[in-house]
Formats: sequence, structure tokens, C-alpha cells
Amino acid sequence: MRRLKSNEQNGLEWDKLPVTEVRSVFFEKLNSIQSSIQFSNNKAQVITVTSAHKGEGKTFTSMNLAAVYAMQGKRVLIIDADMHNPRLSKSFQQTNKQGFSSVLAGAVPYQEVLQTTGIENLSFLPVGPLPPAPTKLLNSVHFQTFVEDVRAEYDLILFDTPPILLISDSRTIGAASDGVILVIKAANTKKADIMRAIQLIEARHEKFLGAIYNDKKLSKREMSTYSYY
Ligand SMILES: Nc1ncnc2c1ncn2[C@@H]1O[C@H](COP(=O)(O)OP(=O)(O)OP(=O)(O)O)[C@@H](O)[C@H]1O
Ligand SMILES: [Mg+2]
Repeated sequence: MRRLKSNEQNGLEWDKLPVTEVRSVFFEKLNSIQSSIQFSNNKAQVITVTSAHKGEGKTFTSMNLAAVYAMQGKRVLIIDADMHNPRLSKSFQQTNKQGFSSVLAGAVPYQEVLQTTGIENLSFLPVGPLPPAPTKLLNSVHFQTFVEDVRAEYDLILFDTPPILLISDSRTIGAASDGVILVIKAANTKKADIMRAIQLIEARHEKFLGAIYNDKKLSKREMSTYSYY
């Protein structure tokens, strides 16, 4: 098994990726996702990962998908595009440094704020300073330019975004992507919410790539420390 860089800040670091699970439980799921990414859409190079509500496993899924593709030799970029609860960036204590929001503001070229991850072929763009109006920032011309630029450099670009039923950012990011993956927390997400989320995704040019059922059950301790927005 591959040894990844050690970092003990919280549960989302790259060294905590369930590489063994990737080879077992998660692997099967990710494989089928890969198939749907490859077959359902001829050009699924830019992918947005979202969910109906918070805490359903968007960040976890994005990280694992990114790692699996990178380990296959694909050039992968994962972007913390959750400017409301940037959990990926918190893992790296990157929130005060420049990142995605700075690129959207036209303040810095994205290449200058990329991070390495300890996984070969996998680059990470942290969130950057949290802007007062993230949704507005996404409408900037710099966002479109950024997506064009990274298309030329990476085989797969993954956006980790906020929940689609709470915040519209994933719709905007999804519209600039080739497809949107919906993460569903198997035990919790209500059917009506799943349908509503898919409707919102489909409303933007039929971008729905598929859903991932995340059957992880959070412990009481995880639930008690888990509040955002
Ligand atoms: N399949 C899983 N196996 C193990 N841990 C998981 C799994 N799915 C989620 N988790 C853990 O559950 C917590 C919540 O997951 P995550 O942060 O990925 O959700 P999220 O949808 O990105 O949340 P938010 O809406 O706040 O951004 C994290 O601590 C994550 O590591
Ligand atoms: Mg998240």
C-alpha cells in the first residue's frame, strides 16, 4: 500500500485517505462512477461534486475520486470551491492564503497558488480568503477563463462545492462543468430532496452525471462537532 504524507490535523488529510477501502468497498463504487463518467458523457473532464445538504460526503468523495484517478496516472486537479465551509482547505490550514477566490478575483494566476498533495499527479487548489459574496465572484469572467486554462493542463478537474439545496454556487460551477455528481447520504437524504437536487442540476443543460450513495454513518462525536453555515 502507498504511504502518504503524514498530517494529523483532522479527518480529511490526504494521508487519511482510505486507500485500503479504495481497494475494497469504495473501489467498487468508484469504479462504477468512473464507468459512468467515461461512458455517459463523451467529455467529462470537468466535474462538480455536490449534495442536497451539508455533511453528506462531498469532500470525502471528491478527495477519493481525485486520488483514484491520480493513482492511475491521470493529471488531476481538485479545487476547494466551497467558499462557505472550506473543509478541504481547513485540512491544510490554507484558508488565509490565496487560492480559488483570489483566482476568481483576478488577483493571481492559479498556477501560483497550487498546492502539492503528497500524491503524484494530484494538485490541489485551496479556497483562498473567504469572500463576502462568493456567488457573485463565480460570475466573474475570471472563472470562465480559469476553467478553460485548467482544461488544457489536466485530465480531470474536480470541484468540491457547497450543498445545492442551500447555496447556488454548485449550480454556477456545474454549468461550467461537463457534469455534476450528486452525493447522497444513504440513510438520511430524503427522496424529495434528491429529486429537487437532480432537478436543479438538470435545469442547467442536463449536467447530471449520476449519484453516489455514501453509506457512512457519523458517530455521535462526529455529529456533535459537525455544524456549519
Ligand atoms: N464514506 C465515508 N467513509 C468515512 N468517512 C466519511 C465518509 N463519508 C464522509 N465521511 C466523513 O464524514 C464527515 C463529513 O463528510 P464530508 O466533509 O465529506 O461532507 P460534505 O458533504 O463535504 O460536508 P459539507 O457540506 O459540510 O461540505 C467527514 O469527517 C468525512 O471524513
Ligand atoms: Mg465539504
